[in-house]
Amino acid sequence: MSTLLVTNIGELVTWDDERPLLNDAAFIVDGGTVAWFGQRNEAPAADAVRDVGGAAVIPGFVDSHTHLVFAGDRSAEFEARMTGQAYEAGGIRTTVAATRAATDEQLAANVARHLAEMRAQGTTTVEIKSGYGLTTHDEARSLAIAQQFTEHTTFLGAHVVPAETEIAAYVALVTGEMLERCAPYARWIDVFCEDGAFGADESRAVLEAGIAAGLLPRIHANQLGLGPGVQLAAELGAAADHCTFLSDADIAAAVDSGIVLGLLPGVEFSTRQPYPDARRLLDAGVTVALATDCNPGSSYTSSMPFCIAVAVRDMGMSPREALWSATKGGAASLRLDDVGHLGVGAKADFAVLNAPSYVHLAYRPGVPLVVG
Ligand code: NIG
Ligand code: FE
Repeated sequence: MSTLLVTNIGELVTWDDERPLLNDAAFIVDGGTVAWFGQRNEAPAADAVRDVGGAAVIPGFVDSHTHLVFAGDRSAEFEARMTGQAYEAGGIRTTVAATRAATDEQLAANVARHLAEMRAQGTTTVEIKSGYGLTTHDEARSLAIAQQFTEHTTFLGAHVVPAETEIAAYVALVTGEMLERCAPYARWIDVFCEDGAFGADESRAVLEAGIAAGLLPRIHANQLGLGPGVQLAAELGAAADHCTFLSDADIAAAVDSGIVLGLLPGVEFSTRQPYPDARRLLDAGVTVALATDCNPGSSYTSSMPFCIAVAVRDMGMSPREALWSATKGGAASLRLDDVGHLGVGAKADFAVLNAPSYVHLAYRPGVPLVVG
């Protein structure tokens, strides 16, 4: 196996406990993992050398929340929102119709296109949900397609109740036949716990059925208003994403249970809801992840640097906290310890920036800084 020395790194972010940030650094990749990192002038010899010319190097982003299996877009809905219309979860059904009508090849090509966008912006690990099929057949094929691209797949049959169905019958389907068909393709179970989607009892039923089928729980919680989602997540040990509206009791429950809360700034950007207060969470001691929620309705961005910039500008995070949440925080949300950092033993998933420091990710919003 040949080794690679990545060297002349102006600023290296490792998130190692002792040396989280190094200047004038280097690291060695052996067999796809980080075998050594340290000061450039102390680097051991390697079979090949990559000189990055003083650039900053960061761990690849871990995007812990995306809905990439879909067809069509909803730009008309976005345009209407920008002139005053409110976001409604019901718009999801528009994408459901387009997704059901698409072929497997079209859906897979769409996932590949969005993943290519993500990779070009520094993302190296991606979670992908189903949730735009809402029949047993369409949810199972959505997950089979997602699984072609990532091992971090999530069954979100409980995204909304499809137009043709009554809620109790739909929950029975999701927790019964649909779960049975989908579980082999999924690592996670998810539910959209919100007024207009699924209530506390239905959400609990969905997550408990998924857990019984061997899946790990995650939840869309507290996006559009206060609600029971984060408390339920704390009780079940689920990662909770959105978390825009939180009571003090929700935050206390998150701290006590140690669950990871995921913030999705692209949603508030694109729905004109208020941004979540990351500072309040961090000051309370919550582990925070940042993710894109890439989907054609509430957040059609594939860019983790965009999310970092918004989190720094409008959610009270420092650039360093935002980068941590977009890398190590995302890994924590997905319960992974070999990505989101560049310590010894980590996967050598990294991004070289056309910048001297990671701070430029927020300082230069909208600028394509990732060079590979
Ligand atoms: O995570 N919140 C629920 N689901 C998606 C929105 C999907 C859509 O609008 O199509 C989300 O924001
Ligand atoms: Fe989502």
